[in-house]
Amino acid sequence: MTFKVLISDPLSEDGIQPLREADNIQVDVDTELSPDELAEKIGDYDALLVRSQTKVTKDIISKASKLKIIGRAGVGVDNIDLSAATEYGVIVVNAPDGNTNSAAEHTISMLMSLSRKIPQAFLALKNGNWDRKTHVGGVEINGKTLGIIGMGRIGSEVAFRAKGQRMNVIGYDPFLTKERADKLGVEYGTLDDVFTKSDFITIHTPLLKETKHIINKEAFAKMKEGVRIINCARGGVLDEDALYEALKSGKVAGAALDVYEEEPAVDNRLFDFPEVIGTPHLGASTVEAQENVAIDVSHDVVRYFTEGVAKNP
Ligand code: NAD
Ligand code: MLT
Repeated sequence: MTFKVLISDPLSEDGIQPLREADNIQVDVDTELSPDELAEKIGDYDALLVRSQTKVTKDIISKASKLKIIGRAGVGVDNIDLSAATEYGVIVVNAPDGNTNSAAEHTISMLMSLSRKIPQAFLALKNGNWDRKTHVGGVEINGKTLGIIGMGRIGSEVAFRAKGQRMNVIGYDPFLTKERADKLGVEYGTLDDVFTKSDFITIHTPLLKETKHIINKEAFAKMKEGVRIINCARGGVLDEDALYEALKSGKVAGAALDVYEEEPAVDNRLFDFPEVIGTPHLGASTVEAQENVAIDVSHDVVRYFTEGVAKNP
C-alpha cells in the first residue's frame, strides 16, 4: 500500500529525504495552495506536513477523509485546529527541539540589535546618511537585567546565552523549580519580579488562554522607565495596543519583534516608531533548524506508516 503525503509549506529538501526514501510513501509538494484549493485536495492524502503558513482549520480537517497524521515542522501548533483533529481521529505531531538553538540565537541577535540600534543605523547609512548623532544613545547590556517569561527550551537557552553576555537574568515560569533556576544561574522570580526589575524583557511561552496578552497595559505600568521588550515567541502574548501606548509615552524605550498579532505584519503601526525593530517571523529560519524540524516530522510520518506509532516510545 502507498501512503500519500502532502507538503503544503516550504520545508527543507534535505529534511524530507526520509519520506522520499520510504518505499511505501508518495510525496507531493504544493506550497501555493489557497485554503479552498487545500480543502479540495486534502481528501486524497494520508498525511499533511506544514510549517506555520498553512492554517489547518476544522473545514480542511473535515474534508480530509483519509488523513491520519498532521506533522508540524516546528514547535507551535497554534495553526492547527487540535480539537477538530481529535474529533476526526487525526494525530498531530510537532518537532519541539529542532529549532531551539536558532530561536534562542535570533532572540539574542534581536536583543543586541535593539540595544545598539543596528538596523536603524544601517537603514540611515543605506540612505546615504553618515549619521553618528541620531543613533547615539545605544545602551550596553553588560550588567543589565534580563527578565525571561517562559523558561522552557528556548527561554533556558536564552538565559544561558545572556549570562555569557554578563547580564543578570530573572526567570519566571510556573513550572520552573528553584533548583533548576539555581542550576541555570538565574534568579527564581515571580511574574511581577520580571516586570518590576528588568531592563529587558523577553517572552518564550506558547500562545495559550493563560498567556494571551501576558504583557499588557497593567504589566507595562509595573515596568521600569526605559524598559526594552523582545518577542520572538508568538504574536498575541504581547498586547500590541498596550505596547503602542507604552512606546508613545516613552515608558518603553524600544521593542524587537519577530512575531505579531496579525501575520504577515506588513502594515503594523508599531513600525512607525523608530525605536521598534522587526523581522518577519524568522526565529527558526536557519538552514540547520529547517533541516532538523523537517527530519523530525518526516521520521515521525515514516514511523507511523511502517510501525503504527509516530514517536519513538
Ligand atoms: P517550551 O514548551 O519548551 O517552553 C514554553 C514554556 O512556557 C514552558 O516551560 C511553559 O511552562 C511556559 N509557560 C506556559 N505558560 C506560562 C505562563 N503562563 N507564564 C510563564 N511561562 C509559561 O517551548 P519552546 O520551544 O521554548 O518555545 C517557546 C515559544 O517560542 C513557542 O510559542 C513557540 O511556538 C515559539 N517559537 C517561535 C519561533 C520563531 O520562529 N519566532 C521559533 C521557535 C519557537
Ligand atoms: C515554531 O513555532 O516552531 C516557529 O514559529 C517557527 C516556524 O515558523 O515554524
